[in-house]
Amino acid sequence: MLLKPYELVWDCCCDHGLLGMSLLDTAHARKLVFVDVLANQMRKLESSLREDFPLGKYNWHVRCDDVRNIVVPKINSQLFIIAGVGGDQTVDFINSLSISAADTMFDILICSVHGSYFVRESLIDNGFSLIDEKIILDKNKIYEGIYASRNSGKTIANTGYSMWNWKDQDHRRYWSRLVGHYAQRARNEPEKFRPIVEKYKALKCELLGQLK
Ligand SMILES: C[S@@+](CC[C@H](N)C(=O)[O-])C[C@H]1O[C@@H](n2cnc3c(N)ncnc32)[C@H](O)[C@@H]1O
Repeated sequence: MLLKPYELVWDCCCDHGLLGMSLLDTAHARKLVFVDVLANQMRKLESSLREDFPLGKYNWHVRCDDVRNIVVPKINSQLFIIAGVGGDQTVDFINSLSISAADTMFDILICSVHGSYFVRESLIDNGFSLIDEKIILDKNKIYEGIYASRNSGKTIANTGYSMWNWKDQDHRRYWSRLVGHYAQRARNEPEKFRPIVEKYKALKCELLGQLK
């Protein structure tokens, strides 16, 4: 999904670091910072990076820390990748990075586990615009890839918009799963969740209309 190379890329919650490593390999990042709270895993990652991506040829840094402690440097070309964590945590990270970078532009690539609706709300609230979005099918699970920027881009729809292809049965299956989930939550918290169900239903009508 990445459109351009960056001076600095942060692989947040990197775990084994495979995502960041794939970028080191493709020269999408001049420098890569791997961040995770797991001390043991970070030690292992550092030693495999030393072997496979020797410093001097590659530029990387391993940081054992909470993403919420990151003080965003004043660099114009930087990307934060947040993948494989839950929606609430992702929202927390978007908020803390945005507060830290009140005057600094940066891009963000998100692939959270569940909770994309609230992740999108948080991106909207923090002044992000959409660069690209995709529905990603991986090992029979479905995720949303959201690539956004504080610089410029399109308006972010909280249900997603350009990523949907109603002809694709996986997309329809994903839509049903989302609506089922929010309809269930609406039983206990109707004021919060019923409007979300309505938004997804309106989206479906619009997508069906496009097929005519
Ligand atoms: C499932 S892994 C995701 C790995 C990788 N990003 C991916 O998509 O394959 C989740 C990782 O998030 C890390 N993590 C959770 N909370 C964190 C935080 N507040 N700051 C940094 N890392 C965190 C965990 O230690 C774990 O390694």
